Amino acid sequence: MSKLKIAVQKSGRLYDESMQILKDIGISIDNGKEQLKASAKNFPVEVFYLRNGDIPQYLKDGVVDAAIIGENVLIEKGGDIQIVQKLGFSSCKVSIAVPKSAKYTSMQDLDGKRIATSYPNTVQQFLDKNNVNAQLHIINGSVEIAPNIGLADAIVDIVSSGSTLFKNGLKEVEVLLKSEAVLASSPLITEEKLAILNTIKFRIDSVLKGRR
Ligand code: PRP
Ligand code: MG
Repeated sequence: MSKLKIAVQKSGRLYDESMQILKDIGISIDNGKEQLKASAKNFPVEVFYLRNGDIPQYLKDGVVDAAIIGENVLIEKGGDIQIVQKLGFSSCKVSIAVPKSAKYTSMQDLDGKRIATSYPNTVQQFLDKNNVNAQLHIINGSVEIAPNIGLADAIVDIVSSGSTLFKNGLKEVEVLLKSEAVLASSPLITEEKLAILNTIKFRIDSVLKGRR
């Protein structure tokens, strides 16, 4: 029987709870993420530990059949990727923030300004929708430092507890989207593997009900 290939975040905020939910539905994986691939002992599943930003492409190409990933990453990377189920953890927002001292009344205040972000597609769409012209600076981490070092006038990044914004003297001024961890599937998934995925979805449903 072929195994369902499922991608999870190798490191980062989703990792612990991704492994926990697999465990809760009875899928036990003994070797840790030292190996980039691990098989479940008791279920036809292989887990691939991958970089967050790479996962959407692997899904599109059918290199993996499914993934546990942040909705925000799927939205940013686009493509024909189905969300099978919301997983109820790692809730966050993708928001615009500006220095606490900056005057901000509306999106128009960002016209002609520089925005640092790791989510350029999401930001550009939002700017277009609001008829605002701004210059995007793509950075991959520690985005909130950008206004302090004079690289940008505003940032767009994930806000969870809000403590990173606070520590960097920034205030949230717009919410672009809300996100949580989701189970997603490849557009190229086969019937046989879809059956395995449906079993997983069914088990997750009962675990999530039990948690409520
Ligand atoms: C993430 C994200 C925000 C922060 C939000 O960064 O990019 O900066 O968490 O969480 P908070 O609202 O609870 O502070 P992370 O610490 O993962 O590091 P990185 O940006 O360098 O990848
Ligand atoms: Mg960060």
